[in-house]
Amino acid sequence: MSADNLADDRLAQLLQRSLQENAADFFPAASPFAATVPQEDDFPSLWQEIAKTLLPAGSSNRQPSGKIDTAPIDAVPVPPIPAETVPVLPVSVPRDFDIAAIRNDFPLLSEKVHGKPLIWFDNGATTQKPRAVIERLTYFYEHENSNVHRGAHDLAARATDAYENARRIVRQFLHASSPNEIVFVRGTTEAINLVAAAWGRDNIHRGDEILLSHLEHHANIVPWQLLAQETGAVIKVIPVDANGDLLLNDYTDRLRSGKVKLAAVTQVSNALGTVTPAAEMVRIAHQFGAKVLIDGAQSVAHLAADVQKLDADFFVFSGHKIFAPTGIGVLYGKEEILQTMRPYQSGGGMITDVTFEKAEYQPAPGRFEAGTGNIADAVALGTALEYVRSAGLESIKQYEHRLLTHTLNEMEQIPGIRIIGTPRERAGVISFVHDRLNTEEINQALAAEGIALRAGHHCAQPILRRFGCESTVRASLAFYNTLEETDFFINTLKNIVVR
Ligand SMILES: Cc1ncc(COP(=O)(O)O)c(C=O)c1O
Repeated sequence: MSADNLADDRLAQLLQRSLQENAADFFPAASPFAATVPQEDDFPSLWQEIAKTLLPAGSSNRQPSGKIDTAPIDAVPVPPIPAETVPVLPVSVPRDFDIAAIRNDFPLLSEKVHGKPLIWFDNGATTQKPRAVIERLTYFYEHENSNVHRGAHDLAARATDAYENARRIVRQFLHASSPNEIVFVRGTTEAINLVAAAWGRDNIHRGDEILLSHLEHHANIVPWQLLAQETGAVIKVIPVDANGDLLLNDYTDRLRSGKVKLAAVTQVSNALGTVTPAAEMVRIAHQFGAKVLIDGAQSVAHLAADVQKLDADFFVFSGHKIFAPTGIGVLYGKEEILQTMRPYQSGGGMITDVTFEKAEYQPAPGRFEAGTGNIADAVALGTALEYVRSAGLESIKQYEHRLLTHTLNEMEQIPGIRIIGTPRERAGVISFVHDRLNTEEINQALAAEGIALRAGHHCAQPILRRFGCESTVRASLAFYNTLEETDFFINTLKNIVVR
């Protein structure tokens, strides 16, 4: 690297750091998050102003194109963070869907396994995290860590601001009408259990029907079974056709009975990749007076979510499937429904007044967030959603569609491979079996070449059995995967099956 480049590089780092630590001060009117933080093209014109504030008097304030006297970065005086501001880190923005830049944001994608580059095709199980998310967690614990909502000191204010700001980001991401509709939970599983316990027990009675689709993950089956056992309600199943698409006529017919109180349906099948006509299903269910829960666990990272357009009564997802940490997820519920629901768990934080005789509860969402929640991970979920938003879900959808179509076309040519499910619309997932090798053998052979995917029932036994399988191999893609990776996967698979 030449001296000029080195100087520019160090200046760029300095500028980046300055922006990171002072974005709120320099651009107070802007959203603190990346989409509205000035982009690289704006840096030269902003540099003069920034340098005036950050560099000691007499330091160079030359723009990044020239030579400068670079002080070591650590020596740059960083103004203390005022307690009343929310310290924020800008999210790194992948520009123009530059896949190399995007991949560079995910440290784990550079990992090697068995001495080979890792190919992460297990995104349906969990996704990798961008550096912005990892750094947001660190930042929280280094500068903001406190319990929320209770303390009367600066850090409590910082933590509360960061946590509630994350709630606002989720609201925006889902296009919910109010942050009161956003409840932080552990994940999809907890969200569904919450609805079953806090809404189901009061609204589902003996003889009522709960309508599930044949595509459901166990997380959207078992809580309803328990509720049905407890209340005397009955579970009915929406069938799929031979492609793995839901049969909408059967769905409508089931609703005609007037007994269905709730339809709980996935938006994307984690086993087949089927995209269900969720908005249409909500519309039909509402005609017959049934409420609808949409399981967005597998859709949220692939399709734009708009809960107002969808009109679902509940929408649930897990942060870890959308580049956020594990242990945090979201229950969206229409405010007028959430406010009528009884608490799920109880204890501190969710009450307004307690005597030994009785307790009065907070309105939603506080009512459903008993005890100390997963504060830092909720904050980092906000960062992950901003990251996805900055990449653009429409671009993500188109890019993944190319990856999926290419992979499917190539896989169909491999002797002995059978793709399970050929739905009209697919997102994220390809499930397959081979006529001679079992799924575990294929999984292990691919893993030995650095390709991480999954063999098993994917917690969706009913739909696998519908297709005559106890297990499939599942490749699940995300927007940081590449055509080169899919080609390597296809060639490796070809070699495995001809051995
Ligand atoms: C469609 C679907 N629903 C629910 C879940 C459960 O998610 P979690 O384990 O994050 O609660 C999953 C997880 O794979 C899923 O794919």
